[in-house]
Amino acid sequence: MPVDSICWKAGACRIIDQTLLPEKLRYLKLTNIRDMWEAIRHLRVRGAPALGIAAAYGLYLGIRDSKSSTFSSFMKDLNQAADYLKTSRPTAINLFWALERMKQKAEDVSHLPIASIKQSLLDEAHRIWKEDYEAGVAMGDAGAALIPDGASILTHCNAGGLASASYGSALAVVYRAAESGKKIKVYADETRPLLQGARLTAWELSMNKIPVTVICDNMAGYLMSLKKIDAVFVGADRITASGDFANKIGTYSVAVLAHAHRIPFYVVAPLSSFDISIKTGGEIPIEERPHEEIQCWRGRQIIPTAGVDVFNPAFDVTPHGYVTAFVTEKGVINPPYHRTINRLFRSLHDVKK
Ligand code: MRU
Repeated sequence: MPVDSICWKAGACRIIDQTLLPEKLRYLKLTNIRDMWEAIRHLRVRGAPALGIAAAYGLYLGIRDSKSSTFSSFMKDLNQAADYLKTSRPTAINLFWALERMKQKAEDVSHLPIASIKQSLLDEAHRIWKEDYEAGVAMGDAGAALIPDGASILTHCNAGGLASASYGSALAVVYRAAESGKKIKVYADETRPLLQGARLTAWELSMNKIPVTVICDNMAGYLMSLKKIDAVFVGADRITASGDFANKIGTYSVAVLAHAHRIPFYVVAPLSSFDISIKTGGEIPIEERPHEEIQCWRGRQIIPTAGVDVFNPAFDVTPHGYVTAFVTEKGVINPPYHRTINRLFRSLHDVKK
């Protein structure tokens, strides 16, 4: 199993504190909603699918001790807890998707006693975890079919086990290809400012014995010009109905470079990362994070602060024209995305009815 990054254990949500990797592998036991909010906000738990799971467990922790005895006052508590978690991070749709799904679950079982509704919510959070695990395997298999044995791929940020229930999205492709006997080499962009590539992707791939080479973000174009990259695989935080998508800052530059070098650029993401309520990338809320993340490294100042301004958007938007295909747990989605994405969601909606 690639990584055991988030799970439910002994009445608490257990996460790996990703801010300490790779130096320390420390597990945190989160027993209340405030600790979950703090863990999300400070990227102790991070990556879009993991944020969905964290939000679901966080919401359960938020209502576990609710004293409400009627459904309407219980729902007030639930909505308040969900609104609080929504303020933790704005871009990954998975967080909002999971909270809505949990609220819907409560409505579906409103006829039950409050204690049973609480249990149903914990069960729903477990289901979200399990579905994400299964989605990782399915996306991995669908994506692995796109890469030949011996390929070298480039990835940005961390879209691996640490960002999910286990396999991740972009790295699930690598894990499943490796499990099927293919020899895949990964180049990992370091991913400034918080080094998710250098710290996290490199850590989990090396733990799983996958050959990985870390490069600085500004080296990707040179590597492509040397024909060292066969394909790019990245994850996503929010994919719109047109196929424009948000992912870690720097993804857009990689997409443009891949396009210029005629290298396939794949986005691997579960359906929980799609937000078909919006059409274009310009509508995606982009998180801006504290200046210290650029000015300092682990408390030590690395660039001057006096008279120097800083801009720290955590994500950028890549227009759909740069995407060769999306890889989901339901298979590969090809262009034209405004048609194929809508068709997929319409068919899923019809199946549910
Ligand atoms: O700020 P982060 O580390 O949460 O950003 C994560 C990413 O951008 C990932 O690429 C994305 O969430 C996909 S994870 C499968």
